[in-house]
Amino acid sequence: MKQIIVAIDGYSSCGKSTIAKQLAQYAGYRYIDTGAMYRAVALCAIRNKISDIRNQMSEITALLPQIHIDFAIQPDGTQHVTLNGEDVEKQIRTLEVGNAASQIAVIPEVRRFLVAQQQQMGKNGGIVMDGRDIGTVVFPYAELKLFLTASPEVRAERRFKELVEKGEQPVMADVLADVNDRDYRDTHRAESPLHQAEDAIVVDNSNMTREEQMSHIYRIFDEKCK
Ligand code: DC
Repeated sequence: MKQIIVAIDGYSSCGKSTIAKQLAQYAGYRYIDTGAMYRAVALCAIRNKISDIRNQMSEITALLPQIHIDFAIQPDGTQHVTLNGEDVEKQIRTLEVGNAASQIAVIPEVRRFLVAQQQQMGKNGGIVMDGRDIGTVVFPYAELKLFLTASPEVRAERRFKELVEKGEQPVMADVLADVNDRDYRDTHRAESPLHQAEDAIVVDNSNMTREEQMSHIYRIFDEKCK
């Protein structure tokens, strides 16, 4: 059977990565979390004491030649992002790195640097890739494009729970403000803003259980592969 490219885009905290991972497992495809790549660049910038991203863009661009990002497959089949060979999966999942990633993602040189690697990773198909610009910029010719969405309140609640599970002590109002800020930045940046590809199938999961959502998505995938 033909190995297709599945592009999954959508707002932050829509459950994109969980859905993408499960679909990849169902299909027997490789999964690439492109947000983790932006987060790894952000972590590298933070480690290099870059604290004012908006005014230090050229310093971030100058770091790119020294940045090597990859994914290491774990014994349980999950993938951890690596930064110059170091497993940084845990370090990139904080609010601080997420915020920095969203600011770094507006830099055209950073996007070009990561998009070229993503295109290389998916060129032979058999891939599920999630992000913000996968169906519009990285793989405009992807055979299947999904655009995920849920209300900001539902997404803030999900993010709040995740942060609590990680041992952080978030404030709900801050988490909601952060979701709204990130949405604004992701959709209003000049370079590759988040928007729905014309041929994307929209899945609003505000009122769906995970099982309902996955069986809906599996049906769409099976139909595409027929
Ligand atoms: O999906 P995430 O929250 O891990 O992504 C972190 C940030 O990276 C997010 O604010 C938007 C940005 N991003 C992007 O601009 N393009 C992508 N393909 C993936 C993520």
